[in-house]
Amino acid sequence: MEIIVVPDPESVGDVAAERIAELVRRKPDAVLGVATGSSPVPTYRSLEQRVRNGLDVSGVSAFALDEYVGLSEGHPQSYAEVVRREVTERLGLDPERVHVPKGHAVDVPTACEEYEEAIRAAGGVDLQILGIGSNGHIGFNEPSSSLAGRTRVKTLTPTTRRDNARFFDDDLSQVPTHCITQGIGTILDSGLALLVASGEGKAEAVAAMAEGPVGAFCPASALQLHRRSVVVVDEAAASLL
Ligand code: GLP
Repeated sequence: MEIIVVPDPESVGDVAAERIAELVRRKPDAVLGVATGSSPVPTYRSLEQRVRNGLDVSGVSAFALDEYVGLSEGHPQSYAEVVRREVTERLGLDPERVHVPKGHAVDVPTACEEYEEAIRAAGGVDLQILGIGSNGHIGFNEPSSSLAGRTRVKTLTPTTRRDNARFFDDDLSQVPTHCITQGIGTILDSGLALLVASGEGKAEAVAAMAEGPVGAFCPASALQLHRRSVVVVDEAAASLL
């Protein structure tokens, strides 16, 4: 695990965006795994600058990590919409090449299998962008998730629902109880895992991920088993390392 500590969230975004840009220059049809949440936003903004400066992303595909189950199609906080706003539109990706698990599907388990199949058919994820939850989750793989899991339905923990209530007018009753998430097994198959984190609130999770034992109590610790993982954190998130 390569750990890069930089002064602030903007620098986290710049370093992470440069790693992504390097890949796209080398492999114009790269497959990116994209995360939602606030952590990767500076990365997407910095990447947007590189696209404005001529980085060609017309051949890039993207697969989102996760999605809420039960939100209506087009709900502003569904990850399909967040990815459309923050990734597809910002970077000018071809919408046909951007995939998000179908949390509104009638048959969600089949939608999960089809999602895994679509990732395989695209040749796998070259670079997976990740944030980390304050409880150490990646995607929506909450503590106690199998370290070998694939894309499937999961129950959200009370901690994560509370953390994410800020996106739902601070009204816990509006936060979905279930989600679809790529599994840790899916994430470990990516060519490179690029995790970004900033702020004091992530310091404990970052320390457990990087220096704690590998185990399901901290799903992100599985990245210690990844053949190539890069962690870019600001000084506050690195404060307990
Ligand atoms: C959410 C997402 C994760 C994200 C995490 C942290 O629940 N499913 O993919 O990494 O929480 O979010 P944030 O970056 O806003 O702190």
